Amino acid sequence: MRIWRASPAWPCCAGSHEAGIRSVGLADQPPDRYNPRVEKFRISGPRRLEGAVRISGAKNAALPAFAAALLTEEPVRLANVPKVADLRTMGKLLTSIGADVAREDGEVVIHARTIRSPQAPYDLVKTMRASVLVLGPLLARVGEAKASLPGGCAIGVRPINYHIAAFQQMGAEVSLEHGDVEAKATRLRGADFLFDQVSVTGTENAMLAAVLADGTTRLRNAAREPEVVNLAEMLQKMGAKISGAGETEIVIEGVTRLHGARHDIIPDRIEAGTYAAAAAATGGNVVLEGADASIFMAMLSKLSQMGAVVDIHPGAIRVRRDGPLERCDVSTSPYPGFPTDLQAQILTLATQAQGVSTIAENIFENRFQHVPELARMGARIRVDGRRAFVEGPSRLNGATVMATDLRASASLVIAGLLAEGTTTVDRIYHLDRGYDHMEEKLNALGARVERVS
Ligand code: EPZ
Repeated sequence: MRIWRASPAWPCCAGSHEAGIRSVGLADQPPDRYNPRVEKFRISGPRRLEGAVRISGAKNAALPAFAAALLTEEPVRLANVPKVADLRTMGKLLTSIGADVAREDGEVVIHARTIRSPQAPYDLVKTMRASVLVLGPLLARVGEAKASLPGGCAIGVRPINYHIAAFQQMGAEVSLEHGDVEAKATRLRGADFLFDQVSVTGTENAMLAAVLADGTTRLRNAAREPEVVNLAEMLQKMGAKISGAGETEIVIEGVTRLHGARHDIIPDRIEAGTYAAAAAATGGNVVLEGADASIFMAMLSKLSQMGAVVDIHPGAIRVRRDGPLERCDVSTSPYPGFPTDLQAQILTLATQAQGVSTIAENIFENRFQHVPELARMGARIRVDGRRAFVEGPSRLNGATVMATDLRASASLVIAGLLAEGTTTVDRIYHLDRGYDHMEEKLNALGARVERVS
């Protein structure tokens, strides 16, 4: 394991992307750059990444935080919310439910004075499965909730049976008809619920329902992700009584009402891990401004084992690599294990490592869709069930490749930075769902990425 040490002065950040001060509804924002029809990235390679990049707030912490704002009739103010399509979608969903959602002074203010329509319609759920996170708070606030059942997605079937079972154990009547899940409860009651499998949004949804239930709820085999902890902290600021967040058992003592609050979204560990992988892959030298090393140690220690030099400083991390990369063995698991959301990115890195690396994907059943696209660029990868065997180092050549899901897209962008020639990554609306201003951030680090229609 490399020595991690505080490093001398840090280059300034590659420039903030915060829009100027304006008070407009999220829905009034200019049309999404996220234009699912035609956008692509054209990437010239190979390029070394150098400089500093500002890490944005975590999409997967902001999504449940948006839903939590439905629990009170008072305004909630969220800071460090990333500008990504999934949160614009969530903002539209809250607006359709009856909340006012706006950006003010770089923060998001959500004010759910009344609940007009306690449901998540199909056209929103189909683009973002995290819409189901409104079920818990709606059940808790108004005693009813309806959402179109999220279909599967590229990475797997992704059912929500644990979410439903938790609501039922809290006394909700839940029906599944015509592709919708409908739940009703006069008042939820505290329950003792065991998750058969660790579920991040399952834990979050159950917590969002339990905070206003009558009595105490105990969630066993709960997810320990930092985003779950960040949500619990927000709910506590709103007056909820929660203990054990971040552990495998969370205890929630129901209260009768919650009040407004101001809350900071934690930095995005997956975005930070993505840029860290890109820095190591390109033999670069990058400072991740605002990253919190303590919430993605599994990735940082893997990068260090492979030969990257990771220097940790309060509020920033420098990742650089100037020697050869060693092979690695990765096995994804719930936090604090290696995150499935960084599996595709480290697999691309492994194509540059000496020897055969093994990557096991244990969370989702179909999360190797980046592999055939990488193979078209010259990577040598064999997939056997849940495991991929990556032989390296491989010289990658630019090609036209297709993004299939959010994190697979990121792995193809990293490959484009490595490859000789031009790589066109198609369907980058997947990227826009969860990466804030990705091409601007990469180009400020010396990449040459162009968004083309
Ligand atoms: C969250 O998804 C994240 N999304 C995912 O990030 C992340 O990959 C995943 O957790 C795992 O860390 C958000 O937080 C919005 P799970 P989630 O419930 O909660 C099975 C990204 O790229 N399961 O922890 O949907 C499920 O099929 C996204 O940002 C059930 O069987 O994942 C999976 O195999 C992708 N029944 C496993 O559990 C359920 O009711 C873990 O899923 C729920 C889950």
